[in-house]
Amino acid sequence: MLPLRDTHGRTATDLRVSLTDRCNLRCNYCMPAEGLDWLPTEQVLTDDEVVRLIGIATERLGVEEVRFTGGEPLVRRGLVDIVARTAALEHRPEISLTTNALGLAHTAAALAEAGLDRVNASLDTIDRDTFATITRRDRLGDVLAGLAAARDVGLGPIKVNAVLLRGVNDDQAADLLGWCVQEGYHLRFIEQMPLDAQHAWHRDEMITAEEIFRILEKEFVLTPHGEPRGSAPAELFDVDGGPATVGVIASVTRPFCGDCDRVRLTADGQIRNCLFARQESDLRTPMRAGASDDELAELWVRAMAPKLPGHGIDDVSFLQPARPMSAIGG
Ligand code: 5AD
Ligand code: SF4
Repeated sequence: MLPLRDTHGRTATDLRVSLTDRCNLRCNYCMPAEGLDWLPTEQVLTDDEVVRLIGIATERLGVEEVRFTGGEPLVRRGLVDIVARTAALEHRPEISLTTNALGLAHTAAALAEAGLDRVNASLDTIDRDTFATITRRDRLGDVLAGLAAARDVGLGPIKVNAVLLRGVNDDQAADLLGWCVQEGYHLRFIEQMPLDAQHAWHRDEMITAEEIFRILEKEFVLTPHGEPRGSAPAELFDVDGGPATVGVIASVTRPFCGDCDRVRLTADGQIRNCLFARQESDLRTPMRAGASDDELAELWVRAMAPKLPGHGIDDVSFLQPARPMSAIGG
């Protein structure tokens, strides 16, 4: 086993696999209304190529957890089959899915059957109009049905990720939390990061973790939940004495890069050692040129070594990566 170690002593065991850069929503903090120039089909890894690389990661590189992301992974036709083949690998990883839950009502049962363990869903509001404003699609009902279906087929605990936007849904954070507690979903608020395709992010417009606490504490009593967070980015709090919890992921104001155990594979076969990396390592070209599993594993190890110690969002020299979040995966 060759661990995916970097020069700062971190080892990546959690692989995020983006299956497509396309999406059926248009969240305004992510994409413009007209969408983006999608990756050309011939550059996107085939199902066989994706499964081969996951096999190399789990069998040779110590990867223990695989999370499928997008864009929106549910729009990838082969998803159920990719999950089933991942679950059948000799070193079966934990398998989860980060999704906007649109259409999940139809596929949750098949995904659970294929071996999916858990679902992380993105939901920023439970107000229909606000949902339509943020995502530019009037599809809240389908998303809520998707979440319920995932819970009902045992894909829980369902985590819900929410981004708060000033003047849009920041006044609805407590409603969202109350609803998640009632439904048994584990809500986590994520500070908005500079990864939007439009490059419209501004540090001073971002709702900080500190502000999120202040908003929530008007309606709930929040007490720190148990142990320190380790490599899990969410700081967890008991809500009104528990057992329900809420998480806050302070990616910008309290970065957790020192504990990062992630590595990313893009839909077009590039390794990214960090969400904010400005360089990628191409596995697709050597794979298509006939590289062996050993050679690909070696390239992957080499791609990890130079992982930077932190994202540097607060440095004056910070530059947003060329790929937006929708082409990297969460
Ligand atoms: N900052 C923080 N979170 C984001 N997401 C998308 N773009 C951003 C951003 N710029 C979230 C989505 C989803 C997950 C994949 O990442 O809402 O929950
Ligand atoms: Fe799609 Fe997710 Fe981007 Fe929204 S945040 S447009 S659901 S990729």
